[in-house]
Amino acid sequence: MDHFLDIESLDDSTIGQLLERSAGLIGGQRPRALDGSIANLFCEPSTRTRVSFELAARAAGLDVVNIDLQNSSATKGESLDDTARTLAAMGIAAIVLRHPRDRAAAELACALDGGPCPVRIINAGDGIHAHPSQALLDAATLEQAGVDWHRLRVAIVGDIRHSRVARSDVALFARLGAAEIRIAGPEEFLPPAGQMPAAIRFDRLDPALDGVDAVICLRIQRERISADFPQPDAYHQRWGVNVERLARLAPKAHVLHPGPVNRNIEIADAVVDGPQSLILDQVRNGVHARTALFEHLLAGPKPGRPVWSRTTSRRNAE
Ligand code: CP
Repeated sequence: MDHFLDIESLDDSTIGQLLERSAGLIGGQRPRALDGSIANLFCEPSTRTRVSFELAARAAGLDVVNIDLQNSSATKGESLDDTARTLAAMGIAAIVLRHPRDRAAAELACALDGGPCPVRIINAGDGIHAHPSQALLDAATLEQAGVDWHRLRVAIVGDIRHSRVARSDVALFARLGAAEIRIAGPEEFLPPAGQMPAAIRFDRLDPALDGVDAVICLRIQRERISADFPQPDAYHQRWGVNVERLARLAPKAHVLHPGPVNRNIEIADAVVDGPQSLILDQVRNGVHARTALFEHLLAGPKPGRPVWSRTTSRRNAE
């Protein structure tokens, strides 16, 4: 694995190794010591993803450069490709990219591959296309909570259409063998017909929640919508996950949200802070999942070769 671009480009073995290592780190295993520097290149706002990539890198002993785009030479007309080439020429081993354009990470990887300064590209969210490290930490959090993928019924609710998290979660949960994946939202927030074929579509919230073992709530992605937004109160009434609606879920079902949360719009205050919420576990596990990712990308003798196995993982834990 030279780059980390989306779930679809990962093989099953890599997914298994990343999740197993994430679980080990969540359970207290120590990060491997890595050498080198990575750069956070965020062309869209972020709190969780940017900070957790930085903490993950530091935990593994990597130096971190946070590019301040407003004060970078991008303001003088330098292209994204040339900015990345410049960082690579200075010895940056991996660029963590967040970008508003779909597939920007893959395009950057393609532009730099085969050039004089190889660098790994890590997709930290590109447009509505993919947010694969979020999917990884969501899966790690569900595994930590003890889910059995082959029995898991999960509902993803809210603005699915504009959500890169929904796309990556559906792709990963399907690969892991989830028993049933539901997506639910108002018509204008459901993906075009034919997209996300692994998921069952619901245009009403209550039936989508019936009996599920986990619900993932999504905010309205206002930054990607030019049309009028629904009124927050009316939206919450119809599409908000509240305490009354939690009763529809399976007993002890889990509530997740990738953040940032818009309280009392897509999810009620009492649910965010309630006993079934795994939202802060997701945030915490984001650091571990991203540490596992850095290890996988940067620790090997050469890119693409798995650097640890179930045997070495077990040995490290002893
Ligand atoms: N979940 C997520 O991507 O959050 P940030 O936008 O804060 O990074």
